[in-house]
Amino acid sequence: MKALITGITGQDGYFLAKLLLSKNYEVYGIARRKSNMSLGTLDCDETLKRSVNILWGDVLDNPFIESTIKQVKPDEVYHLAAQSFVGYSFENPEVTYDVNIKGTLHVLNSIKDYSKSTRLYNATTSEMFGKPQVTPQNEKTPFFPRSPYAISKLAAYWTVADYREAYGMFAVNGILFNHESEVRGPEFVTKKISLGVAKIYHGSHDPIVLGNLDAKKDWGYARDYVEAMWMMLQQDKPDDYVIGTGEQHTVREFVEEAFKVIGMTIRWKGEGVNEVGVSEDGRVLVKVDLRLFRPLESDNYMADYTKARIKLGWEPAVKFKELVKIMVEHDIKNLSQNHCFKRY
Ligand code: NAP
Ligand code: GDD
Repeated sequence: MKALITGITGQDGYFLAKLLLSKNYEVYGIARRKSNMSLGTLDCDETLKRSVNILWGDVLDNPFIESTIKQVKPDEVYHLAAQSFVGYSFENPEVTYDVNIKGTLHVLNSIKDYSKSTRLYNATTSEMFGKPQVTPQNEKTPFFPRSPYAISKLAAYWTVADYREAYGMFAVNGILFNHESEVRGPEFVTKKISLGVAKIYHGSHDPIVLGNLDAKKDWGYARDYVEAMWMMLQQDKPDDYVIGTGEQHTVREFVEEAFKVIGMTIRWKGEGVNEVGVSEDGRVLVKVDLRLFRPLESDNYMADYTKARIKLGWEPAVKFKELVKIMVEHDIKNLSQNHCFKRY
């Protein structure tokens, strides 16, 4: 079996490539040149890097996507490439729309025109629920996007649903809730916290500076979520699935749990932007900065993944506390060994 992954240099690309190789797939991955030819998360794993066929290009380059699909004729495409940072999307909506909508359209059209039997996984998101109308959220929950990122993903979601129906394509949307890992990008809140805690463990006096501590999310482990992506493409019929843990936690709880991993207890003092997290001996370990708040917040997320559990047989193996432990312990080890830091 041949699989093509767009966005292979990101967090999910890393875990998905590993999963597919373990299943003896021939794996192709699209990577784009930035100021150098770095391969992001793949640079953290030489064996993985050597096992993947890298194709250099951009999802915005339609002729490149067309020729890639024509030449590779993959059995499965996992379309993960995106401008995936919600905060950045408020500042740069146009590039977010371009990459996330046009990029998806290029992949869909190329499959439709040149490789109709290819199965497509499209990475969509709980962000499409935005300001959720009900909690927990499942496949029937109305969408209410609250950021350019969420709007772009909703456009991609409907485009995939439309092509599936109009052209009989095997194309699915995974509606994935937040998932994190050791190789999470440094701008995302969980990695900011785990890395900040690891630095404090190693003697740093720099507090961790955060925005909205009360945002409620459903956080799972990326390794579990790429299994769900694969499962979606092994079904008899294409369909869309919600993937999450069914647990809800705040950013504040993530901070508290992360400090527990290094044996510290956080106490909160003050309110709003003056709130701080202090250690038992009164040291300020966490601060709040208004600039890190978003113009609109999307939260109160909790996944109802019943459909995935029943139809795919999928369950998350790692839940909140273990996830936090995995991330903090990894960063502590990484800092002491000066291991792969290309992403940080
Ligand atoms: P990520 O770490 O930010 O990775 C995004 C990937 O897209 C990177 O490989 C990036 O390449 C690539 N990319 C961006 N623009 C591109 C372009 N114009 N052409 C080609 N490649 C491009 O994201 P992730 O966490 O792995 O998430 C994977 C997908 O799932 C994304 O679509 C994201 O929106 C979606 N999603 C993620 C979560 C989550 O919690 N992680 C939840 C729901 C949905 P560079 O390395 O060159 O930047
Ligand atoms: N990034 C960041 N930095 N977020 C912060 C901070 C901070 O300093 N302080 C508080 N937050 C809050 C954000 O306001 C948000 O409510 C929450 O922490 C999580 O933010 P991110 O980690 O940036 O992730 P996200 O939820 O916005 O988006 C991620 O998950 C989506 C799934 O719901 C991304 O991976 C998206 O691509 C994905 O679709």
